[in-house]
Amino acid sequence: MKITKSIKKQTKWSLKEHSKGKKIGLIPTMGFLHEGHLSLIRKAKEYSDRIVVSIFINPTQFSPEEDYKEYPRDEECDIKLLKNEGVDVVFIPEVSLMYPGEYETYVTVEKLSKEYCGRTRQTHFRGVTTVILKLFNIVLPDFAIFGEKDYQQYIIIKRMCRDLNISTKIIPAPIIREIDGLAMSSRNRYLMEDERKEATILYESMKKAENMVKKGIKDVKSIKKEMVKLIESKKFPRIDYIEFVDSETLRRVSTIHGPTRILEAIWIGRVRLIDNIEIRPKR
Ligand code: PAF
Repeated sequence: MKITKSIKKQTKWSLKEHSKGKKIGLIPTMGFLHEGHLSLIRKAKEYSDRIVVSIFINPTQFSPEEDYKEYPRDEECDIKLLKNEGVDVVFIPEVSLMYPGEYETYVTVEKLSKEYCGRTRQTHFRGVTTVILKLFNIVLPDFAIFGEKDYQQYIIIKRMCRDLNISTKIIPAPIIREIDGLAMSSRNRYLMEDERKEATILYESMKKAENMVKKGIKDVKSIKKEMVKLIESKKFPRIDYIEFVDSETLRRVSTIHGPTRILEAIWIGRVRLIDNIEIRPKR
């Protein structure tokens, strides 16, 4: 497995592989890898001959009060895991290479970036789309895999690629959960023991909604009311948002007619967790 920190070397490698007719799959990450990331690599293998994983904690997607400085890092362990998965290249650029002095260019998916998570994290998605476009320009991937855990991120990146005629195909990969239902995330490690126990409420509340829909209830307001009641019965959780949206456009829906995503963000103590599931109306 090759480890490269150089943008030029990464692009040179990618061009060489393309000249041999090889398809490249990219999995962009911020490191501190877990089973969720590894599942993205396995997904990428279905599509690609060569796998590149980038590890880059992207400062532009954190606001000054967020956890950029404390974001968990373990490069040595990440590299071991990636070797075991048969990854071809790990691209680990320095911040100063990705954002040289007087950096001032950003790409924004205007409306979608302001909704949902964008309401509390106002410049977050601008940072994500910018770094992803940069990584695409460096790695030149045919495919890029994004976990559905960050569903809004996945849809925003798809929209950027469509709007800017980017030829990299965006492939979604399903959420990987702990045994008790909590979606895997590098930030779960911030939870104290008793908070961790209550963190399952995200998934439980969405499953409650799913069961109501299975029974034929279609009115979002009534479903949300029950979800809020359940969440508020716990000690730690504080709701940031619960939204029912069209799975493709992320437009809010008030009645469940077709495939709908429930998007949820909850504070548990000082940790903000997100999750989502797809529900379908009863036939
Ligand atoms: O989902 C993440 O880990 C990050 O937002 C990403 C896509 C690697 C961009 O920095």
